[in-house]
Amino acid sequence: MSADEMRAIGFHEHGDIDNFELLSVPKPEPGPEEVLVDVKASALNHQDLIAVRELDHYVTEYPFWGGGDTAGVVAEVGERVDDWAVGDRVVVNPAHACGECEFCLQGEQSMCANYEVLGEHRKGGFAEYITVPRTNLYPVPDGYDLQTAAAAPMAAGTAWRALADRAGVRPDDDVLIVGATGGVGTYAVQFATEVLNAETVYGTTSSEEKAEFLRDLGVDHVIDYTEEDFDSRIWELTDGRGVDVVYNNVGGDTWVPSMRSLTHGGRLVLSGATAGPNPTSELRLMFVRQLEIYGSTTHSRTAFETAMGFVFDGSVEPVVQETLPFEEFARAFELMDQRRLYGKVVLTQD
Ligand SMILES: NC(=O)c1ccc[n+]([C@@H]2O[C@H](COP(=O)([O-])OP(=O)(O)OC[C@H]3O[C@@H](n4cnc5c(N)ncnc54)[C@H](OP(=O)(O)O)[C@@H]3O)[C@@H](O)[C@H]2O)c1
Ligand SMILES: [Zn+2]
Repeated sequence: MSADEMRAIGFHEHGDIDNFELLSVPKPEPGPEEVLVDVKASALNHQDLIAVRELDHYVTEYPFWGGGDTAGVVAEVGERVDDWAVGDRVVVNPAHACGECEFCLQGEQSMCANYEVLGEHRKGGFAEYITVPRTNLYPVPDGYDLQTAAAAPMAAGTAWRALADRAGVRPDDDVLIVGATGGVGTYAVQFATEVLNAETVYGTTSSEEKAEFLRDLGVDHVIDYTEEDFDSRIWELTDGRGVDVVYNNVGGDTWVPSMRSLTHGGRLVLSGATAGPNPTSELRLMFVRQLEIYGSTTHSRTAFETAMGFVFDGSVEPVVQETLPFEEFARAFELMDQRRLYGKVVLTQD
């Protein structure tokens, strides 16, 4: 490979996860306000599976590679960058916003009219190098390893925005997390229990083994939805009251049971549709119980920095089930696709 090329894990055509291949692609150069990051670790998000399968309307250039969760070392800075230096250890904020629209001016970057996310609209960290605007970096403290740091940015930022900024979880809230074992879910559990101090935290999963993991992570009541309907179980566990907040990043046929799990005035916050984007709904529940529904997408810059602060001060710990060399990407995609993961899988590079 020549000096102006690098390796990336990407695809030329949409299809399935076996379309990912190890590519040789041009090494990017930083613009005047950009930084070139030498990627040391990048974590998978479910978004990477969705990108190859479904996001042909977002991708504008092939080959495309994802990777919304990235950590590395600054390799070069653009001519107008004076706040980062070669050798700095960083994580990358995957959210790109224009900084000028009405939403950016309110600090709501993920509502930006020109919003772009690494791994969906832009090529991400499944490569040896990535260029990002200087404002999209956050420092990794000395002693905190880059592999663990890479498991945080998108997943932690998304969970924090959904629970803290959108649903506004308070200490007297009972919270149900649907999809609790995944990347976003494991942060959601920890933010709810360790930072927002929710009264009681419930979580759903699909096996006894995963249920045990969730109990260890701090979930008070785990519901195995392959054994029983989770809304009926919530009803029993709360003596017919329901919970105050449901955080759902699964969608599909979990949507109506999520509504049924809520008490009067309950808040349902949604940030994903892994199990399908077009479920049936239950309008009567919405108005009779006077539910509030919040959509949530990644994070504002403040939410990102807050979430990373909680990661780096140890309030929450990234759950990294597997760390694999870059070349073993196929196994990483399979693990996620087969739902054999707790938390994250990280790909590493020298
Ligand atoms: N809005 C945003 O900005 C944003 C940002 C990040 C992620 N997301 C979305 O949030 C969702 C979760 O992402 P993630 O990276 O945390 O995913 P992940 O690590 O793959 O976790 C997903 C979890 O959902 C559970 N699940 C329940 N039903 C499922 C089904 N039919 N198919 C697959 N999984 C199912 C599985 O756990 P059990 O087997 O334990 O049930 C699985 O571990 C994705 O839809 C992703 O696109 C959105
Ligand atoms: Zn904007």
